[in-house]
Amino acid sequence: MKEISSGIFSENGKILTLNSRPGQRVYGEPILKKGKKEYREWIPYRSKLAAAIKKGLKKIPVEKNQKILYLGSATGTTPSHLSDIVGEGGIIFCVEFSERMMREFLRVCSQRKNLVPILADARKPQEYSDITEKVDLVYCDIAQPDATRVAVINCKEFLKSGGYLMIAIKSRSVDITKRPSDIYREEIQKLKMAGFEVLDWMKLDPFEKDHAFILARQIPSK
Ligand SMILES: C[S@@+](CC[C@H](N)C(=O)[O-])C[C@H]1O[C@@H](n2cnc3c(N)ncnc32)[C@H](O)[C@@H]1O
Repeated sequence: MKEISSGIFSENGKILTLNSRPGQRVYGEPILKKGKKEYREWIPYRSKLAAAIKKGLKKIPVEKNQKILYLGSATGTTPSHLSDIVGEGGIIFCVEFSERMMREFLRVCSQRKNLVPILADARKPQEYSDITEKVDLVYCDIAQPDATRVAVINCKEFLKSGGYLMIAIKSRSVDITKRPSDIYREEIQKLKMAGFEVLDWMKLDPFEKDHAFILARQIPSK
């Protein structure tokens, strides 16, 4: 087993995180035991960050004790792996506006104390500004036409200077009439115009059709 990035492991082509809740699965993922340690397989068909790692994402800016703002947590598949990585000293503020998703996600939050559920619309960051602190990373996976704009306004409000943004772009949600590659180029351009340096990006096929994943860094203001 090889540690490919802080808290992220790889063995036989599988990506894994060290299970912070041994004996508990979150979404039916296989569990691998090594001595006293237990790892959860991180399935790239279920998580866009795992898909991006499989597609060669060069830098994964997630570490122990970090603070993360996660937009579009759904039932908690990807947040649960980030929860393993940041550990007890870290915290992940998870914004989700669907009550149905949130009900299921609360079960995961009750097992993992570093996940903070926030039932809110990510388009209105002022609604959760009192419960959220400055973060090292904003992760955005909301599959909305204005996902890039929503990510940017949240970064402006909550991201530390020089912090990172990871964003999944679903081209069909942005504009079904345009070619996905044109949409990715446009969204990357929007990030640059908003003061971000785009460090890496990739298409997520075959794990997610017509999706791209972008890693960017907010350029510190002088
Ligand atoms: C593709 S799913 C996210 C999957 C999740 N990121 C994962 O990997 O486990 C998108 C989620 O974003 C939520 N969402 C969409 N627009 C939102 C908004 N404006 N505010 C908060 N949540 C939103 C949807 O309800 C849905 O649960």
